[in-house]
Amino acid sequence: MAASTPVRILDQRTPEDRDRPFLPGAGKRWLLPFYDAFTRVAGVRALHERAVGLAGIEPGQTVVDVGCGTGNLSFAVLAAQPSARVTGLDPDRDALRRAARKARRRNVPLTLVQGYADRIPAEDAALDHVVSSLALHHVDDDGRTAFARDALRALRPGGRVTIVDFGGPASTAEQAGHPTHRHGHSALQALRHLTRLMRSRVAHNPVVARNHGNGIVTLLTDAGFGDAREVAHTDHRFGRVTFVQATRP
Ligand SMILES: C[S@@+](CC[C@H](N)C(=O)[O-])C[C@H]1O[C@@H](n2cnc3c(N)ncnc32)[C@H](O)[C@@H]1O
Repeated sequence: MAASTPVRILDQRTPEDRDRPFLPGAGKRWLLPFYDAFTRVAGVRALHERAVGLAGIEPGQTVVDVGCGTGNLSFAVLAAQPSARVTGLDPDRDALRRAARKARRRNVPLTLVQGYADRIPAEDAALDHVVSSLALHHVDDDGRTAFARDALRALRPGGRVTIVDFGGPASTAEQAGHPTHRHGHSALQALRHLTRLMRSRVAHNPVVARNHGNGIVTLLTDAGFGDAREVAHTDHRFGRVTFVQATRP
């Protein structure tokens, strides 16, 4: 790793946060080693690239990736805009360690912060972008509300939040949970388990249900974003995926 490409992990958890539960990326902690292979097969990279394209990040801009997990959305940001200053936020230390290893291998600078979506690691009005991929449905009601308010606080006027997650205007729990591939042929039991888990989570988890309809748009509007709207959507094998964007007035 070159000296000019620092990768670091910071811990911003409060003493109370240390016992705070969270839903890990793959649903269970032991599945983390399979997360990247699973999401690659599931076509998540295309979602990341689309979100980054929609975000429109410019050279040198500051970006926080909320619920960054193993860092794949952050890496998509850096691939599109190498001079962006990117911080990934996630409560999962093991996922952050994986993100750090990947950043070092790729020789890209990345700050990783262990913490929760309701406390974005930035001063007031300091950020150009908040981005988040497939993470909001992991966050409970209070956490979602606090996340939206804190995103507004941390973004500069004109700064933008771009969220990609399951849900959106035309989705219902039933539609979102309906698999388009009924006959998977993966040899790996873990990958099959993850596929079932994801379909089930999208279909039945009450937190995902809050993304259905105008859930994410309403969340951002209620927090004070003026122009929250769905800017794109796609039909993924796990359910409808929505891309929502809003600007800090
Ligand atoms: C499905 S993964 C998505 C990871 C990554 N953004 C991606 O697109 O591959 C969801 C992530 O949300 C994180 N998460 C869970 N609860 C959270 C919270 N309260 N605040 C921030 N992140 C959280 C999990 O640890 C996990 O890494």
